[in-house]
Amino acid sequence: MRYILLIFLTFTFASASSYDLGKKLYMEKGCYSCHGTKLEGVHEYPRLASRAKGFLTYKLKRFRNKKSDNQQQEMMIAFATSLSDADIENLTTYMTDFVEEENAERYDDSFQTQGDGGS
Ligand code: HEC
Repeated sequence: MRYILLIFLTFTFASASSYDLGKKLYMEKGCYSCHGTKLEGVHEYPRLASRAKGFLTYKLKRFRNKKSDNQQQEMMIAFATSLSDADIENLTTYMTDFVEEENAERYDDSFQTQGDGGS
């Protein structure tokens, strides 16, 4: 019985990839509310999808150490202070390897503000 449990646990941990753990954290910590559910960013909130893992790790660790380069980035500190090294590893894996899910809920972001604005 003990062995069955052990095998079950090993399987559970092995199946939760860094990517999936990162995705879960990204949703749980509310990162999507600023950076978007497709990691696409909006306005002053930067895009996070497919960016260099090293850079994202460096930034998150800086924010965790309460360091920012400008007032805009101060906002990130509150969201980074509770992250462990493992959390950062999982989050950056998710961001760097991000693949948009085919059937995930979408919204129309194809609208471009261009032209004379109808005036
Ligand atoms: C309240 C809005 C908000 C939330 C929530 C938020 N961020 Fe940010 N994030 C920002 C802003 C603002 C910046 C800095 C933009 C700049 O450099 O001007 C930033 C920067 C970053 C950067 C650095 C990117 C770069 O190009 O410099 C990373 C990585 C990041 N956020 C990850 C996360 C993660 C992971 C979470 C969830 C734990 C999160 N953010 C939650 C607003 C937010």
